[in-house]
Amino acid sequence: MILFSGLGSEKLAMGVASGTNAEHGDIRIKRFPDGEFYIRILSDVKGKECAVIKSTDSNDAMVELFIILDAIRDMGASRISAIVPYLAYARQDKRFNEGEALSAKTILGLIKKFSDTIMTVNCHFLHSSGESEFQGIEIRNLDAFPLLTNYFMGKLKNPFILAPDKGSIGLAKKTSEIIGCEFDFINKIRISGDDVMMETKEMDLKNRDVIILDDIISTGGTIVQAANFARSNKAKSINVGCVHGIFSRGLDKLNSVADEIVCTDTIQREISRVSVADLIAGELQ
Ligand code: R5P
Repeated sequence: MILFSGLGSEKLAMGVASGTNAEHGDIRIKRFPDGEFYIRILSDVKGKECAVIKSTDSNDAMVELFIILDAIRDMGASRISAIVPYLAYARQDKRFNEGEALSAKTILGLIKKFSDTIMTVNCHFLHSSGESEFQGIEIRNLDAFPLLTNYFMGKLKNPFILAPDKGSIGLAKKTSEIIGCEFDFINKIRISGDDVMMETKEMDLKNRDVIILDDIISTGGTIVQAANFARSNKAKSINVGCVHGIFSRGLDKLNSVADEIVCTDTIQREISRVSVADLIAGELQ
C-alpha cells in the first residue's frame, strides 16, 4: 500500500506508516496566490492500493482531500482508502428543521465519490466502532476513547468521571468502569453555537480529580461550563480529554478553567499527547 498525507496530517501519517509496511506516498501540495491548491502525485500508483490520510478540519481541507483522491484515481490506483481521522460536518447528520441541509451526507457522499473505502475516528453521529452505514455509505469508525482512558489511568489520585452532557453518559460509564471510579453527568442546554448552560444539580466533587471527556471541543463552551460546574462543586483538579481538538476559539479560556487538556492527533495540536497512529495502523494490516 502507498500511504499519502494531506497537509496537517503528515506526522500522523508517518506514525501510521511506521506501524504498517506501507510505502510513504510522494506528493507535492502547494497553494496558488489566490488560495487554490496545486497537487501533484509523484509516486507511481498505477495498479496499486493507496490510502490518503487527511482530516477535514476546514472547508479548504475538504477540497484538498477531494483533489488528492481524484488525482490518485486518475493516475491509475487500483483501490483508494480515504482515512479521515476528523470527519467534518458530522454534527449535521439530521434535519432538525424542515429544509435544513443534511451536510454530513453531502460531505460523505463526496468522499465516497473519490474513494473505495472510508475510515474515520469517533465520528460524532456513530455510537459504535466498526463498520457502519449512513445514508447508504459504508464507514469504518475507530474508537480513540480507550487511548484517552489509558492516558488518564493511574495518573490521578481520586478520579471521578463527569459527562458534560447526556450524550456522553455511556462513555463516562464505560470509562469509570475501566478506571474503577464513579461517574455522573450534567445536563447541557445549548443556547447558541458559542453558548451553553448547565442545569443545576447536586454533586459532591470535594477533593475529586474530575475527568471530563468529550468527542469534540469546538468553541470550548461545553467544557468551560462543565469545568465551572466541577470547580463550584469543590473539585480538586479538572482534567479534560477529547478526541478532536478543533479549538475554534483558541485554548486560553479552556486553560483558565482546567488543570490539563489533552487531545488526540486526529487534528495535530500542541496538546496532542495521545496518538491514533497505531489504532489506524492496526486497521490497515
Ligand atoms: C456535542 O454533542 C459534542 O459532543 C460536543 O460536546 C460539542 O461539539 C462541543 O462543542 P463546543 O466546544 O462548541 O461546546
